[in-house]
Amino acid sequence: MTLVGLAAGAVLAVVAIFIPWLPEQGSRQAELVDNAYWMVTIICGAVFAVVAGVSVYAVYKFRAPPGDLEDGSPIHGHTGLEIVWTVVPIGLVFAIAIYSAVALGQAEDLPDDHRVVEVTGQQFAWRFTYPDIKLENGQPLSSGELVLPIDQTVEFQITTKDVIHSFWVPEWRMKQDAVRGITTKTVVEPTKLGTFPVICTELCGLGHATMRSQARVLTAAQFQQWVREQRRLASQGGSVQGKELFVQNCGSCHTLADAGTQGQVGPDLDNALQGEDEEFIRTSIVDPNAEVTQGYQPNVMPGNFGDTLSDAQIGGLVDYLHESTSGGGG
Ligand code: CUA
Repeated sequence: MTLVGLAAGAVLAVVAIFIPWLPEQGSRQAELVDNAYWMVTIICGAVFAVVAGVSVYAVYKFRAPPGDLEDGSPIHGHTGLEIVWTVVPIGLVFAIAIYSAVALGQAEDLPDDHRVVEVTGQQFAWRFTYPDIKLENGQPLSSGELVLPIDQTVEFQITTKDVIHSFWVPEWRMKQDAVRGITTKTVVEPTKLGTFPVICTELCGLGHATMRSQARVLTAAQFQQWVREQRRLASQGGSVQGKELFVQNCGSCHTLADAGTQGQVGPDLDNALQGEDEEFIRTSIVDPNAEVTQGYQPNVMPGNFGDTLSDAQIGGLVDYLHESTSGGGG
């Protein structure tokens, strides 16, 4: 049995060490969270091994011989053992609590030069607003994708327009619910360049699985470039801005050849909008329940683009969709 145990332990150890169990670490917080996670996992593994080992040993060692139908000898209590199995778990629970509290404190440490990004969830999309970056019209910069410069700490201020959602980028580890009526917060310092998924991790309705966006971490110079580009697009209006808006807000759910998007959640707009007039397109955006394309009931498209996009933005989007699906322009 010892040999079997050792062999099984060796196989498990190899598997445990060589499988990358967690996503890559994309933030300063990731290492803190992972260390706490592994500490708890190792403690649980050790407790399991001791309890399972003693149980298996006792079953084997004290089993009744064949034909023995007598009662076992009466045993009652063992004060020493009871003290041990009370004190040891209390010590472990305190160790986990203190370690986690210290890690959380370090994770949420907010330097003076941090950036604030407002995160708004709605069925079934994310919106990211940069209150410190103003556009020409005085409105803050707002985007359907999350773009951040590397190595700058961000405080996310999170809320929702409807039901509870939860904001999560696995590579950053930090996760926070979006709750209507309050603003929840979480802190992240991205330390790795690249594109990472933004996931809604609270079951929020039919479109929950599609409630995804992306987080792009850029160098400081690339980030400034992106901000300039957003300013330029916002001041331009019209169908050029419409295309950009479409890619950011609609492309993950809708296919549109002109924009190069391939979303499968909603209708293929090359077909669904073909030959439709501007009024139909506008209604489809601001009141998607008015007429739902055959095969896409019940409707899962957010009903509040009329609130989250400005009139100029919706105008640009309508112009763009009309041009790109009418067969003429584009
Ligand atoms: Cu929003 Cu799930």
